[in-house]
Parts: sequence; structure tokens; C-alpha cells
Amino acid sequence: MRYRRTFYGRRKSRPPLNISSGGQCIGQKQLEKIFLCGDPHGEFKQILSAIDEYHPDAVIILGDLTPEVSLDEIFKGVTHTKIYWIPGNHDTDSDLIYDRIWRSKYAINNLHGKVLDVCGVKVAGLGGVFRGQIWMPPAEPIYNSPGEFIKKLGKATTWRGGLPRRHRSTIFHSVFEKLQESKADVLVTHEAPSVHSKGFECLDNLASKLGVKYFFHAHQHECKNYGVINGYVAKGIGLRGVIDLAGNIIVPAQADLRETENKDFVEKKVKVKKLPASKFRRIYKVRRDKHWKGHSAWPKDMRFGTEPRVVFQSQLPDHGSREGK
Ligand SMILES: [Fe+2]
Repeated sequence: MRYRRTFYGRRKSRPPLNISSGGQCIGQKQLEKIFLCGDPHGEFKQILSAIDEYHPDAVIILGDLTPEVSLDEIFKGVTHTKIYWIPGNHDTDSDLIYDRIWRSKYAINNLHGKVLDVCGVKVAGLGGVFRGQIWMPPAEPIYNSPGEFIKKLGKATTWRGGLPRRHRSTIFHSVFEKLQESKADVLVTHEAPSVHSKGFECLDNLASKLGVKYFFHAHQHECKNYGVINGYVAKGIGLRGVIDLAGNIIVPAQADLRETENKDFVEKKVKVKKLPASKFRRIYKVRRDKHWKGHSAWPKDMRFGTEPRVVFQSQLPDHGSREGK
């Protein structure tokens, strides 16, 4: 049995998965040489460590890179590994972030809307997100192509002579349509397919039309193995996770604290709702009678018809009307 080292020790190597590319069978070793990375969100240590340890032939970053310096600076020591990427919705948040990616030498390795040969594997990429102003499936697109959008908006709203910066990470129907005419082995997207609760059915159709065997997505920050759907294996990589095409986890994904907190909050809320009143009082020690004597829920000195509390008296102006009482 073969074992592979991961950040959490050793684990069994998976049986070979046959991906056919142009009639040729791609071997297990080749699959293990291509790494896929979930949203780095400005953190590249996990990718650089994985490159340093395993020397993969290629690394594909699935959007939301938001680097703090130029990609040239980040990957300056990387010589034998090719770096590919697709944009995420946050990669167009500012001019600085945009330039750190699109003005680096890695700009030409953007897989968005293309099928490229990545070390012998045909990889199709669809970066960005669906935005209601342009196209929110399953509804019909409002603007079909970037050209149509610019024409409607006029030159005053263009950015650097073209599409507004924000929409450079928006999925346009024309790009989507052109991509689905191709054939590929692997599909990488930033948005999730419909198997995820926030996913899109049109991405399932895209994967089927491309005839892929694997479909990887990012954006939702969850590491999920959905199993085989419509003849392809679908996986969510998760926040800052790194996996290889053979399915080995190289760097486990991180928990998204915002989502964990949200889940805890919702779960607590549901739990409280389900509790009967007596049990709720017992757990949360809400015993009104214990603290406040009498039938009213208000303390005695705050009920109508009683003397105002001292704190109120001191706040009164010096008219003396109440002081005389
Ligand atoms: Fe995202």
C-alpha cells in the first residue's frame, strides 16, 4: 500500500482514477502533480509550503486571491511549478488588488472562460460570480456580453477604457456560452454547482456539456466531497485548502469563523425556541419573583405613584417642585 505525507501525517494513497484526455489515459502520478487551492484571501503560506514540499507541476488557485503584494513578489522563488488561477468576486475589490494580479506576469495564466492544457490535463475555468445587475441564473441575462453592458452604460462609467472594475469578476452569459462549446477533463469555478445550497444548476449543465470527470469549486469556504454527480466527481475545496487532482488532501481547509459563528447563533436561537418556558427559566435562571416582590414585573421604586428614584431627583433642574414633597 502506498502512503502519502500530508500536513496531518500519512494517509493511504487513493486507487488510480482514469481520466481520459484525447483518448489517452492520465495516470495517478500525473493527477498527483496538479494542485488545486481554495480561496487564499491574502494568505499564500499554505500554497508555498505545499509547493516546497511536493514540487507539483502546476497549481490552480480558484479565486479570491486578494494578495497583499504582487503575485510576482509572492511566487518569486517558484521556478518549476506553473501557477494558474481564476478570479474570485473579491479580486476586483480595489485597483491595488486588481493590479497585483492582472499586472503580474501570471496574468496570462488566467483560466477564466478558457480551456488550457495544464501539464497534460485539459482544464476549463470559469471565475467570478453571478451578479444580479448582469445575470443571475436561472433568470435570463440582463446584459449578454461585456460589450452590450458598456454600450448601455456609456463611456462615462467605464474603467480604464473598458468594463467597470467590479464587473471584471462577473460572469457574462456570452463567456459562459462560448466555454460550454469546448471539451475538458476538469472544470474549476469560483461559484458552486447546484449540489451546494448556494450553488447554480447552470454550472451542472456546463460540466456535463464540457464532459468533465472532475468539478472543483471555491467561494463557499467549505471543504465538501459531494461524490459522483451526473458522471463527474464534485468537490468544494474550502478556505485556504490545497488538494491534488487525485483527491489527496495536501493542506486541510480552514474553518471560516464568520460562518461558524453564524451557525452557532442560528443553532442557539433554534434551541431556545424549542425549550418549554419552565425549562428555559431553569436554564437561564429567569426568576422574576425571586428578585422583585409583588405582582408587578417592575421594581417597586419604578412603579407609577411611588417616589421617583434618587437618580432621577439629582437629574432634575433646581426648580424645587419635587424637592419640596
Ligand atoms: Fe468568493
